[in-house]
Amino acid sequence: MVHGFAKVGVWGVSGRLCRPETPQDLLSPRPGAGVGIRVYKSADFTNTLWGGTCGDSRQEKCCKMIGMNPPNDPFPASEFDDWAGTYDASVSIDQFPFFGYQDILARIVALAEPIRGMSVLDLGTGTGNLAARFAVLGCDVWCTDFSVPMLAQARQKIPDAHFVQHDLRRHWPEELRRPFDRIVSAYVFHHFELDEKIRILRDLASNLASGGRMIIGDIAFPNLASQERVKTEVGAEWEQEHYWLADESLAALYKAGLPASYTQVSSCAGMFVLTHLLGNKAG
Ligand SMILES: C[S@@+](CC[C@H](N)C(=O)[O-])C[C@H]1O[C@@H](n2cnc3c(N)ncnc32)[C@H](O)[C@@H]1O
Repeated sequence: MVHGFAKVGVWGVSGRLCRPETPQDLLSPRPGAGVGIRVYKSADFTNTLWGGTCGDSRQEKCCKMIGMNPPNDPFPASEFDDWAGTYDASVSIDQFPFFGYQDILARIVALAEPIRGMSVLDLGTGTGNLAARFAVLGCDVWCTDFSVPMLAQARQKIPDAHFVQHDLRRHWPEELRRPFDRIVSAYVFHHFELDEKIRILRDLASNLASGGRMIIGDIAFPNLASQERVKTEVGAEWEQEHYWLADESLAALYKAGLPASYTQVSSCAGMFVLTHLLGNKAG
């Protein structure tokens, strides 16, 4: 019994009830499952309070409605939903953290060496700026993001791409369980702590086709000293997030069985290339 409600249920994407569960399931939903709350009287639900996908901004509201603490998520999808309409204007201004933004995208594409028909998965695709560069080259482009408005913007730019709403911190969804020739990403992983970055990349390694390559461009610095220099230079524009420090990150990647190379592209952005993935499986 949760605050006057008989039961809380978690159900699958079809909307059909899979199994009634504890409120904890709302915070840690099953892989690929939609999440929501239904109120039951005996076996039948009488009302649907909320249904959506994990990371949806309504998840927080719904938790509050039933008196649960909302998930402690410093980077919920709702943060990005509101940014979708103005995101392209933000990246067009050459200021922190987007110094060299177009350069990073161009360098990721160059390192990917795309050819027509190659399957390319873009993680945290946002408004689709990186994915669009692969689409014009004839690649089979797959876009993921946990923000529905971001995906809607991307869809307008690249209507022929595949779109999957997914939170990278969650279990890998069924529709993306297939090998990709390239897995790319720009300006996404700095939302995750280093351990989580590594965990996500290790999991992704098994979705890389034979001879595949992962290229991750993001806000990154060679080391802490260089991050501190840029922090001083940009002053009030600085916002502390989990920026990559190449020295510690390369060591952690190597230890995790993911040897990588790193290139600094602008004062605050760089790229990691993961190539030597033994049998396409991390360590
Ligand atoms: C700064 S934008 C970068 C967008 C795009 N890759 C680009 O280079 O312009 C970050 C994107 O990552 C997405 N994102 C952040 N955290 C995510 C997560 N946990 N799972 C999936 N997408 C996420 C956001 O919704 C947003 O679209």
